[in-house]
Amino acid sequence: MEDNSIQPFQGIAEDVIQHLRFLQTIGVTHLGGASASPRPAPTETVSPVVTETGPAAPNQVQPAPETVAPAPIILQSHEVPSTMPQVSLFDAELPAEPVKPDHSLEDIRLDIGDCQRCKLAPTRTHLVFGDGNPNARLVFVGEAPGADEDASGIPFVGKAGQLLNKIIEAIGMKRDDVFICNVVKCRPPENRTPERDEIAACNGFLHRQLAVIRPKIIVALGAPSAFTLLGDNKIGSITRIRGQFFDYRGTPLMPTFHPAYLLRSPDKKREVWEDMKKVRDFLKQND
Ligand code: URA
Repeated sequence: MEDNSIQPFQGIAEDVIQHLRFLQTIGVTHLGGASASPRPAPTETVSPVVTETGPAAPNQVQPAPETVAPAPIILQSHEVPSTMPQVSLFDAELPAEPVKPDHSLEDIRLDIGDCQRCKLAPTRTHLVFGDGNPNARLVFVGEAPGADEDASGIPFVGKAGQLLNKIIEAIGMKRDDVFICNVVKCRPPENRTPERDEIAACNGFLHRQLAVIRPKIIVALGAPSAFTLLGDNKIGSITRIRGQFFDYRGTPLMPTFHPAYLLRSPDKKREVWEDMKKVRDFLKQND
């Protein structure tokens, strides 16, 4: 006779195994005692979009993090939406749609040309337009190219990029399946966070790229990406909004931590795995 009482535990066990596999894939070799004790109430780093947010560059001097208790944000749904996300948190002031619709990513690249629209242009080696499948179902949006990306012209090829590759593989996809781009297309000096005027000069191209690709879901890596796409800079912390679906112009958007942040705070990989499972499940349900 079949014993149904163990069925719920099988599900939990499978989940634990998947979780451990993910941690192994992204390089966690040791699960310290901290995870066994009750987790403290989360505190967060205050990180407005244009100044001190985001995935600080490896060589960037970090200001001492200011910690505050997170104000609760009441969202309607924390579940994977079966079709559209129900949450639109922000009164977003999004840039206008392009006057003339683009037919392809090449149209946008041509329009960008040898861009001199902001003060990042003189110090860049390569403009980093974006890379991957132009028909991707999943698009990752990072913050800005770093040194390796500036040198190669390809996004996420440095250490953070290698971790991103592992994250992509952990959800059963390949880098070639997805499209990867950034909020700004040129490297900020010293890998500092892009400034408001630089984002303003560049983000129209990002919105146009997303309009052409029409992914099923977008993952915003880090605060500058999430806040640029969602049109708000007052939320203050990626910690508060990660792991929940938002509405980006009719497409679900999942904010999560930037891989560069994970390199500095590997204990946060657990949260990213939770977020990425929701993305994976959403894609499965919307095949
Ligand atoms: N960090 C980013 O945000 N983008 C890259 O392309 C590389 C590192």
